[in-house]
Amino acid sequence: MKIKSTEFILSAPDLASCPQTTFPEFAFIGRSNVGKSSLINLLTGKKDLAKTSGTPGKTVLLNFFKINGSWLLVDLPGYGFAKVAKTEREGFSEAVNHYIEHRENLACIFVLIDSRLSPQPIDLEFLEWVERLDIPFALVFTKTDKQSSNHTKQVIAAFTAELGKRRTEPPAIFTSSIKTQEGRSEILGAIERMCAGK
Ligand code: GTP
Ligand code: MG
Repeated sequence: MKIKSTEFILSAPDLASCPQTTFPEFAFIGRSNVGKSSLINLLTGKKDLAKTSGTPGKTVLLNFFKINGSWLLVDLPGYGFAKVAKTEREGFSEAVNHYIEHRENLACIFVLIDSRLSPQPIDLEFLEWVERLDIPFALVFTKTDKQSSNHTKQVIAAFTAELGKRRTEPPAIFTSSIKTQEGRSEILGAIERMCAGK
């Protein structure tokens, strides 16, 4: 899919502040620092559309972007970042929880996983919750440029083995790198198909 236009809409502190729209929406979530904002910039081809940082906890609001005038990308705050004050952390994770549970135009959640790490309980717990809610999701293993493709394959196999313990259908799986652009056309292709209702 060609990206013809990108537009920042707003940053929302809670579900009630999210933009009112019926356009299909694709949300990016995962641990702090996993590369959510970077992936949004890779997909849109805009270096600074979503704010990135080497310091975890950069994204604290739900950030909405309209793409090609017809669908939305949402950059969500990361989970599992302990250094943010507890009350603030609870505040934004509650906003994310509400968003995921109640957002009607949410078409798919892309759950980002660091391709270098063995399966982490926090990611598996998050996925268990998303599966219980029965919301479509896909996995993106990020930062593949940091290691050999063999290691990435091993990590994905270990992760899917964990997921396979409780589900038979494996989810859609993507790999990504902002250095090599890996995953860009695959993820955009998947979004295009979902926008078309396929
Ligand atoms: P929070 O908003 O804090 O939750 O983080 P985030 O998940 O949005 O991560 P962000 O996109 O800010 O990236 C975190 C760091 O990882 C930055 O220094 C990025 O440059 C780096 N990074 C992200 N993706 C990649 C990648 O594919 N390869 C490499 N080498 N670095 C990456
Ligand atoms: Mg971010």
